[in-house]
Amino acid sequence: MKSVISVDLPQQAYNVVIAPQSLDQIGAGLTAHEQPLLKPGQKVLLVSNPAIFKHYGERAIASLTQASFEVSHCILPAGERYKTLKSVQKLYDAALEQRLERGSAIVALGGGVIGDMSGFAAATWLRGIAVVQVPTSLLAMVDAAIGGKTGVNHPQGKNLIGAFHQPRLVIIDPQVLKTLPTQEFRAGMAEVIKYGVIWDTDLFEQLEAAPRLDQLRHVSDELLQTILTRSCQAKAEVVAQDEKEGGLRAILNYGHTIGHAVESLTGYRHVNHGEAVAIGMVAAGQIAVELGWWTQAACDRQLALIQKTCLPTQIPADLAIADILAALKTDKKVKDGQICFVLPTGIGTAKVTDQVEASLIRSVLADLQR
Ligand code: GLY
Repeated sequence: MKSVISVDLPQQAYNVVIAPQSLDQIGAGLTAHEQPLLKPGQKVLLVSNPAIFKHYGERAIASLTQASFEVSHCILPAGERYKTLKSVQKLYDAALEQRLERGSAIVALGGGVIGDMSGFAAATWLRGIAVVQVPTSLLAMVDAAIGGKTGVNHPQGKNLIGAFHQPRLVIIDPQVLKTLPTQEFRAGMAEVIKYGVIWDTDLFEQLEAAPRLDQLRHVSDELLQTILTRSCQAKAEVVAQDEKEGGLRAILNYGHTIGHAVESLTGYRHVNHGEAVAIGMVAAGQIAVELGWWTQAACDRQLALIQKTCLPTQIPADLAIADILAALKTDKKVKDGQICFVLPTGIGTAKVTDQVEASLIRSVLADLQR
């Protein structure tokens, strides 16, 4: 089983390779072309976190060394709270120590935090060197590793510092998901369900047909390959049409408007990103129904998928609706004082609107807290 998806950007297209054991093929993936993506002999800085490096670091380094790259590594602490300029400074120090040059590359082996920081360091070191993304969480595989959004958090807000910097190659080895905690698998599934709702009817129906989605061990290898391939394809198609989020790309924020508010009000601890997106999709779906854009039947089908994944569907009881509304107004997605929502219009289609009345948001949120 192997899928290769092309992200067709006008400046520089790149591939997303999804195949079991591809962790052992990172080096070959970079050199196996008439015009190699990276010249053999070049310096490569592998970036990871302690747990991922323990499981997969040796294999990744061996694959790069076999392809004649000069490899060093930099290990950063795991977790969103370390997605800071201070961690990126450590990457710059490692880049300086190894004397990374314009032709060198950074390889990000980890989840979204490692991918975002490595991408940002690559975007800024010597004004831009190559980055290769090797995501190890489902969330990073289907979202963060593709599309070139890189960056770090500011103490006042998530992802406030960043740059667009597309990877040279994305390598996804589904087998590394075996060590992913169940809660993180479910978090990634929230983004997968998102693609089904906003972009890919067939993916949505395949998820509906699956006996279980709550744990990776109940998902067949074939279905996992389909989930990864179709999700990455959806992301690639959207990014290829709107790289810098001038319009269409905003639909990838489905579930994220209320999701981000819930995530930040719970201190990024009690509700993880995927769980918050799941709650946000339930809310956005119901708003779309109230506006007459979506049928209740379609909304119920979405709810059933989220429940099948054992993701939350209710607003946490200890959150005040007024606080959520206030948080929505400070979100990055507010334009000219209007809150932007992505609302589904079918199974596989969605559109962005800033025409949702606060009273409707309030009543839908209140219904989701009963
Ligand atoms: N995660 C949303 C985007 O890449 O645009």
